[in-house]
Amino acid sequence: MTTRDVPPREVDPGGSCLVLGGAGAVGRHLAPMLGQVVPGVVVVASRCRHRAAAVAATVQGGSTAVQLDPHDPIALSEALRDVGTVVNCVEDPEGWVAGRCAERGVRYVDISANAEVLGAVEARRADFLRSGTTAVLSVGVAPGLTNLLATHAVSRLAEAPARVEIGVLLGTGEAHGAAGARWTAEGLAAAPRGRGAGGNPRLTRFPEFGARRAYPFPFSDQEHLRATLGVPVTTRLCFDNPAVTAA
Ligand SMILES: NC(=O)c1ccc[n+]([C@@H]2O[C@H](COP(=O)([O-])OP(=O)(O)OC[C@H]3O[C@@H](n4cnc5c(N)ncnc54)[C@H](OP(=O)(O)O)[C@@H]3O)[C@@H](O)[C@H]2O)c1
Repeated sequence: MTTRDVPPREVDPGGSCLVLGGAGAVGRHLAPMLGQVVPGVVVVASRCRHRAAAVAATVQGGSTAVQLDPHDPIALSEALRDVGTVVNCVEDPEGWVAGRCAERGVRYVDISANAEVLGAVEARRADFLRSGTTAVLSVGVAPGLTNLLATHAVSRLAEAPARVEIGVLLGTGEAHGAAGARWTAEGLAAAPRGRGAGGNPRLTRFPEFGARRAYPFPFSDQEHLRATLGVPVTTRLCFDNPAVTAA
């Protein structure tokens, strides 16, 4: 999917849409996409005003740049004034920003793929419920699209499947940020080795790429899908470059 595929539609953001980490590897792509959906209300935040301004200049419909360290409680509290939605692109393992959003009734989206970060936000569930505010998690590729595709596929079956197998093929040539690269390296270190339950590689057919050997990888989508679908789920990873996958 590209930004060109985002259909124009009217969305009421209920205030401005603050993108934390808006100058990061993911944030600088996300902010212009949000500008297409909710024009004129996107605010790009970075600890560096110049980096925020450079991204804000690429946002269709106009955007504001703010200098903000999300871990500074006074600055964050000030920045949340008049904000309807926060999109957090900064790793926040304590769920600090989520907690402030729940208190203030600000809608919260966390793009993290990190299970620890997602768990910290989930731990604030009662706070979000108390303030009647929504938090949306697992919004990327895996977790994210994989959760939706697997749920959709299972919903089309007449009977519950014995298990769900997901294959993810990532591009090695893409520009990943430090957080994204760290998450991949940590996942590779933690991935189950050898054969056994969930540990088997699997030959998986990917459209346009053909059959690739994919290896179990601790994507967090598996945890949530096991709970929501009630069947064993394994997500495997390979790269577009077979030599990198083998390594
Ligand atoms: N679901 C998926 O499929 C998927 C895929 C890829 C990545 N992700 C997630 O996307 C998020 C962003 O990844 P990324 O690769 O874009 O990250 P990144 O470029 O390394 O960092 C994003 C921003 O975080 C801010 N930051 C870093 N360290 C900080 C600190 N100590 N205090 C305050 N701010 C700090 C920086 O903002 P400034 O320096 O500009 O202030 C940086 O621009 C991660 O949570 C990652 O897990 C999800």
